[in-house]
Amino acid sequence: MIFSRVKPLDAILATAQKKSLHRSLGAFQLTMLGIGGVIGTGIFVLTSEATQKAGPSMVISFIIAAFVCAVAALCYSELASMVPVAGSAYTYTYAVVGELLAWMVGWALILEYAVGASAVSVGWSGYVVGQLKGWLGIELPAAFVSGPFAGGIINIPAVIISLLTTWLLMIGTSESARVNAVLVAIKITALTVFVVLAIPVMNADNFEPFMPLGAVGTFGAAASIFFAYVGFDFVSTAAEETKDPQRNVPIGLIASLVICTLFYIVVAAGAIGSPLGGQPVTDAAGVALDPGSKELAARCAAIVSGGALEPLPCSREALAHVLRIIGHPAIGNLLGLAATLALPSVILLMMFGQTRIFFTMARDGLLPERLAAVHPKWRTPHVVTAVTGVAVACASAFLPVGKLADYSNSGTLFAFMMVAISVMVLRRTDPGRHRPFRTPAVWLVAPLAIIGCVTLYLSLPGLAIAVLPCWAAVGLVIYFLYSRRRSHVGHGIVEVPELDPDAPPPPIAQ
Ligand code: ALA
Repeated sequence: MIFSRVKPLDAILATAQKKSLHRSLGAFQLTMLGIGGVIGTGIFVLTSEATQKAGPSMVISFIIAAFVCAVAALCYSELASMVPVAGSAYTYTYAVVGELLAWMVGWALILEYAVGASAVSVGWSGYVVGQLKGWLGIELPAAFVSGPFAGGIINIPAVIISLLTTWLLMIGTSESARVNAVLVAIKITALTVFVVLAIPVMNADNFEPFMPLGAVGTFGAAASIFFAYVGFDFVSTAAEETKDPQRNVPIGLIASLVICTLFYIVVAAGAIGSPLGGQPVTDAAGVALDPGSKELAARCAAIVSGGALEPLPCSREALAHVLRIIGHPAIGNLLGLAATLALPSVILLMMFGQTRIFFTMARDGLLPERLAAVHPKWRTPHVVTAVTGVAVACASAFLPVGKLADYSNSGTLFAFMMVAISVMVLRRTDPGRHRPFRTPAVWLVAPLAIIGCVTLYLSLPGLAIAVLPCWAAVGLVIYFLYSRRRSHVGHGIVEVPELDPDAPPPPIAQ
């Protein structure tokens, strides 16, 4: 029976209890961790893409994506409170629906974390290029600041930041909870300043037509902007470092999501209400151009060289651009500086999440144990980190931010769906187990999470929809040719592997 390989929940919990990781994080720090992982390229950069897809109705897109994340977060909370162990969705599904599906979730999480880190690297590149121009008047050659899809050759700043982050992770750099809190404060201040300056000068006429590309456009933008919420699930990976995780993990997951949602909706409204307007850029025939395409890049260049304002969908640093246009150029540059400083920590968290999951899978025998080798001096899983970093750098060198975010979303939506399924399965198969947090109205909330994930997935662009099954097919080949035969659970070893106790703390340690 291919679904019979389940890692017993009690074994997972027993190992977690044996572990001596210092439990230092409280609800506040977890919420800060959630916000630290969430606010990033999605709001600072992808607002442009969402405008191109949905026009002013992107405000609704933000609400749709938030709803799907909220129901998924309620499901995550139940599992995270029951299984406060590292590995996130991969660990939960291993315990509930078995090895094959856990492998598929772990495999899909590569899209979420590694491809997501590439997307944030490209987003960072847009802001750093704007910073060099805004403060120092240095204009980098267009060919070297974006990939071929966006009219350039290679995105060098994105490659530099992803390799730099990889190196920091390899030598064991950890971001303290305090540094994370400072970066969160910077991001929240930047968004608050944006709201305070942009909302009072909002022009309500910009909201007409509200849905220039219909409901398809609104859902398409929701599927892309979903990326702006990804990262709250990172809270669940810190469960082993949390005081009273049964209480604090659900609080951290839900509070970070609520705070980000409130900010996003107001920020999106402020951007649309600015003189840049919130309508998609069209070709000569009035047809909206594809976001991240060469055609859109060429049309944007033509508009700007004609002396008109650069439209919102053309900007690679959307929020800073809006502030400059509404008469606050210095504050716009400062907002850009805030994004430039804070986005690398999102990359760090995503790459760290990726290496932790690879590491857990390798220690479970599903990936070559060589990958989990720990460096004698740095005490980090340097091999897996380097492999991840090179892959992230290659993707960020050539692909545009919107496409990377869409591919990342396809993997994340699959993982979220599996978590919702796992919650329901566990309610049936193990109803008596203590559940410190119970998903309210689980038979409504979990199916809603599944329907929401499937709807958003089907609203992604065709190529991003195709990425998941292709990626899954590669994963299945590897599973049946390699992982299945090497699996520790398959060999009757159910002990849950422990991380090296001397390994450096995760990027959120105090
Ligand atoms: N939510 C994170 C971001 O928008 C991944 O950058």
